[in-house]
Amino acid sequence: MNYSIALVPGDGIGPEVIAPATEVLDAVGDLYGHVFHYVELEAGGKAIDSWGEPLPRATLDAAKQCDALLLGAVGGPKWETLPGHLRPERALLGLRAGLGVFANLRPAALLPQLKDACPIKDEVLRASNPQGKPHFDLLIVRELTGGIYFGERGRENEGKSAFDTETYSWEEIERVLRIGYRAAGLRRKRLCVVDKANVLESSRLWREVASVVAQEYPEIETSYLYVDNCAMQLIRAPGQFDVILTSNLFGDILSDEASVLTGSIGMLPSASLSDFVPGHKGPMGMYEPIHGSAPDIAGKDLANPLGTILSVGMMLRYSFNLEQEAAAVEAAVQAVLDSGLRTKDILNRNALPGTEKLVGTKAMGEAVYTALLKA
Ligand code: IPM
Ligand code: MG
Repeated sequence: MNYSIALVPGDGIGPEVIAPATEVLDAVGDLYGHVFHYVELEAGGKAIDSWGEPLPRATLDAAKQCDALLLGAVGGPKWETLPGHLRPERALLGLRAGLGVFANLRPAALLPQLKDACPIKDEVLRASNPQGKPHFDLLIVRELTGGIYFGERGRENEGKSAFDTETYSWEEIERVLRIGYRAAGLRRKRLCVVDKANVLESSRLWREVASVVAQEYPEIETSYLYVDNCAMQLIRAPGQFDVILTSNLFGDILSDEASVLTGSIGMLPSASLSDFVPGHKGPMGMYEPIHGSAPDIAGKDLANPLGTILSVGMMLRYSFNLEQEAAAVEAAVQAVLDSGLRTKDILNRNALPGTEKLVGTKAMGEAVYTALLKA
C-alpha cells in the first residue's frame, strides 16, 4: 500500500526526533512492502518566521490531504513574547481543531527496562498492581478539541478581569467516550471517567453522558473519579488504572503527571484521532511525542527519539490498521532498551557497570532501525 504522511518537524528538537522516526518508517516499508510518501510542512515557530503566522492555511489544507500527520514539537523562547494568537502553540490547537482529531490517546506504561527511572517506590507500585508486580500500564484518553481550550475567553473591566469557559455538548462527550470504550475493549476492559462533578456543571454532564453510553458497553467496567483524587491516586497507586477518560484540560495535566511515572517524558507517544474502529483503517490522524521542543538541548544530539518512533507505531496501528508492523516497531524499541542503549534522559546512573550505554539521538534511532531489520 501507499501512504502519504504529512511531516511537521517543527522547532527545537522536533527535526532531530522526526528524522530517525521516518527512517524507522522506511524500514517498515521495505520489510512489509509499503511505500510511505512524505509531505513536509511548516507550523509553529518555523512558520511564524517564514509566513508570519503559526499555522498557515496551506499547511492545514495540505495536511488534510494526507493519510496521517507526524509532528515533532513546536515552540521556543524566540516566540514566547508574541501575543497569544501568534504563539507557536496555536499551531497545535489549530491542527487539532482543523483536522477534527477530538480523541487524544496517551499511553503511559512503565517498561521493565526503565523501572529504576520511576520515582515511585517498588513496594508502592506492587501494592496497586493486580499481580503484585512493580508495574503499571495505563492509557489516558483526553478530549482534544473542546472544553476550556476552545471556549469563549476574554477580558472585562478594562482588562482587570479575565474569563475562560468550559463548555461541552452531549455529542462531544459521547464521541470521545465511544473511542475510550473501544480502546478499553482492546485492553483490560476498565474505564475511569475523571471529572470535577462535585463542583462543575460541565462535569455533571460528563457523568450523565457516561452513565448512558456505559450501558452499551456492559463488558467494560466503568468507574468515576474526581480529578483531584485521580491526581493523587496516580502517584499512590498507578497500577489500579487501565483507561482514564477525561476532558481537555484535565487530560493535559494528568498526562504530564503520568509521564513522569514512566521515567521520562521522552519515551511517550500520542495519537489524536477523529474516529477509531478496531480492525479498520482509520481516517486522518495526528501523531506526536508528548514532549515539547526542549530548546535547551536542541541541536545537541541529546533528545530521546523513542517517543516519536513509538508515535509512528501508533500511526501504523490506529490510522493504517497495520498491527503487525506496529508491533514490530514496538518490539524493536524493546530490543534496543534490552541491549542497554540509553539516551541521557533514561540513563540510570546507578546501573551495574557495563549494563547501560549512553548514546545520542542518531545512534538510538539507528539502533531501532537495525533491530527492526534483524527481527
Ligand atoms: C500538550 C501541550 C499542549 C496542550 C500545549 C503546548 C498547547 O501541553 O499537548 O499536552 O496544552 O495541549
Ligand atoms: Mg500538555
